[in-house]
Amino acid sequence: MKLRYSFIFLLFLSSVDLYAQRSIQTLKEGWQFCKGDAFEESRSQRVRVPHDWAIYGPFNRKHDLQVVAVEQNGEKEATVKTGRTGGLPFIGKGVYRTAFHLPDTARRSVTLVFDGVMSHPRVKLNGKEVAYWPYGYNSFYVNVDGVALPGENRLEVSCENKEGQSRWYPGAGIYRNVHVVSTHRVHIPVWGTYVTTPEVSEAFASVRLDVQVAGAACEQQVQVSTVVMDADGRQVARSEGSLCARGQAYTQSFLIQQPRLWSPDTPHLYTARTTLKVDGVAVDSYDTRFGVRSIAYVPEKGFFLNGKATKFKGVCNHHDLGPLGAAVNRSALRHQIELLKDMGANAIRTAHNMPAPELVELCDELGMMLMIEPFDDWGFRPKSPNGYGAVFHEWAERDMDHMVRHYRNSPSVVMWSVGNEVPSQWGAPGMDELMRLRRVVRELDSTRPITCGMDQIGAVLGNGFAAALDIPGFNYKPQHYDKAYKELPQKLILGSETASTVSSRGQYFFPVRFADHQVVLHPGNQSNSYDNESCSWSNVPDLDFARDEDHPWVIGQFVWTGFDYLGEPSPYDTDAWPSHSSVFGIIDLASLPKDRYYLYRAQWNRQSPTLHVLPHWNWKGREGEITPVFVYTSYPKAELFINGKSQGVREKNDSTVYNRYRLMWMDTRYEPGEVKVVAYDEQGRKTEEKVVRTAGKAHHLVLSSNRRQLTADGEELAYITVQVADRQGNLVPTDTRAVRFTVSGEGQFEATANGDPTSLRSFQQPEMDLFAGAATVVVRSGKTPGHLTLKVTARGVQPAELTLPVK
Ligand code: GAL
Repeated sequence: MKLRYSFIFLLFLSSVDLYAQRSIQTLKEGWQFCKGDAFEESRSQRVRVPHDWAIYGPFNRKHDLQVVAVEQNGEKEATVKTGRTGGLPFIGKGVYRTAFHLPDTARRSVTLVFDGVMSHPRVKLNGKEVAYWPYGYNSFYVNVDGVALPGENRLEVSCENKEGQSRWYPGAGIYRNVHVVSTHRVHIPVWGTYVTTPEVSEAFASVRLDVQVAGAACEQQVQVSTVVMDADGRQVARSEGSLCARGQAYTQSFLIQQPRLWSPDTPHLYTARTTLKVDGVAVDSYDTRFGVRSIAYVPEKGFFLNGKATKFKGVCNHHDLGPLGAAVNRSALRHQIELLKDMGANAIRTAHNMPAPELVELCDELGMMLMIEPFDDWGFRPKSPNGYGAVFHEWAERDMDHMVRHYRNSPSVVMWSVGNEVPSQWGAPGMDELMRLRRVVRELDSTRPITCGMDQIGAVLGNGFAAALDIPGFNYKPQHYDKAYKELPQKLILGSETASTVSSRGQYFFPVRFADHQVVLHPGNQSNSYDNESCSWSNVPDLDFARDEDHPWVIGQFVWTGFDYLGEPSPYDTDAWPSHSSVFGIIDLASLPKDRYYLYRAQWNRQSPTLHVLPHWNWKGREGEITPVFVYTSYPKAELFINGKSQGVREKNDSTVYNRYRLMWMDTRYEPGEVKVVAYDEQGRKTEEKVVRTAGKAHHLVLSSNRRQLTADGEELAYITVQVADRQGNLVPTDTRAVRFTVSGEGQFEATANGDPTSLRSFQQPEMDLFAGAATVVVRSGKTPGHLTLKVTARGVQPAELTLPVK
């Protein structure tokens, strides 16, 4: 034990020395921002980056009023549309300024790295334009040797969002991090390593590392040494050699005995720490984090992770973080991944854009597979006239190159998608565009397959498009999978986008009937939380579950969507203001799970049982009326009691696809009191019970936090749910009163939301209406250790308070 500690200590000491060679500053504080064309000191405001200028609102139907036919939804005639991109003021220009300090530039190389700027950023350093990168979702970098100065450096970033650039809320401004990387002239450049694991077994793994070296003179000798460490910092392999520099990569190979394999359940990571030496002096040190895992896509049999048949239990997500907008925050993403993992999900599709680096890092660390997808449009007849289609021809290769080099060392990434429902899939232009993208991916990474989300199944089966992918990915229409499987050469099918079920948390409508492929509209612009409604092109989850279960060659699915997002308020996507956010999510915009969460959990989470009852039981005025009860459960059968009277036993069965996945009592009538469900396991034993009671008069507020404590880094967020209970503690599921937040101590109020897709309340005012009895308040830690206290008050009920240690 003692030996081990002293070894780790030595390693730590030496790494401190080495890191003195490379410095990375992330520019967060002290930016000045000005909306509009030009920077004017008097109009500017101090902001913190990541920053999304548009999320502060206010919401207004005029922001994205459009007269269009959404062809993709089968529309032929143009009609008035509101809220398609969230009803927020993201269109326009903005300028950011900051300054950073460099102690020295002699014999140094300085690179600016932008994780993402929305969009068309132009970067000036010390008054000189050094970079332009049109696509707001991609990361880019620029070497600024000769422009960067010792001492203070002035950085200016201007950007512009155009009308018609997006089908959803894109965010606005420097919404991801900015880094200044200063290294020795001889160094490993940005994303300058590529690691693969050609052989993987439980006994051993071989690891190959390609190292790029920049800044060396032709034929200069550079010593390259790499130590591979496990997650505890223990060395498991090493390699040393000398590169005679001629612009080529230096490849090192390693053997790891008994590797700890990466998987969603066991997200073990390794680090390859590479040191460059010139004339015996260490000049650069670079860490490449990777995982050891094997992936295989086997015809007829499915997807295998580390030799084990694995279905994709995936969700598609847009990049916005609800009330935080597009401004990236690691702990907000962590919260999302934790919720999804508890639901049993094992994969995310980044729809339809490159992710934030923080998302990929977290997926590596927490265990979540990723399909990274860059585009919603290619060059041919783009869906968004001013979106990526406008720059595709000039930029596609460069964008793909950045995406693949950035993320190809991440074990979580198991597939590249090259696009989503691109109109060119119909004919010849699509093949040309596809081939271009395929070529770039293949050159940079041959270890992962290529897919594409296709929705025109009739066309792509006949015109070669679907056959030209490694994995044919279909968006919707699971009823056509058999035909596709029969006709296509890959002998595998992926549900690249599934379901698009619509539901609003806690909103129930009667009578309850399943209406697949039909649009159903309700007063108040909400959709039914009985999970029985979808759009004309989409379906309820049950149909996709059945496809997954019945065929090994269906390698799984990515549900549209894990989380509600700003924009695309279908089926209220016509002139239906104030609808401005989606209801496709399994989890709402306030990060609160809808009933549907438990339908997926019952099917996907094999580690902990699910027993969930809906609807709520507060139906004043519906006494005696038919009020069906659904139970989403991992148990095969259950008995339902209303006020002690049995309503019968239901067992999952194949009579309909819905009965296969849900226990349903369609004829129960409402009477106030108690609904109790008793679940039985496979052996017929009573295993678990759940009770829902009619709540009485609202009496006090109840708070629950996703975090017990916060880190004193000024960055970490806690998501706190606010609800109302009656005197006995039963939650009141219909309450809509306004609640007010006060935060004191070491931290601050960050944002709030309630998941109502029609709410025009500001996300940044410390006040929110409850929606279906709940709202979320997000608080941010301060930088000083201590305590953060949140107090919540509301009219007519007792207040509540919660204190979190900040450490
Ligand atoms: C798909 C599309 C998604 C989203 C979804 C809504 O066709 O790929 O971006 O629009 O429909 O159901």
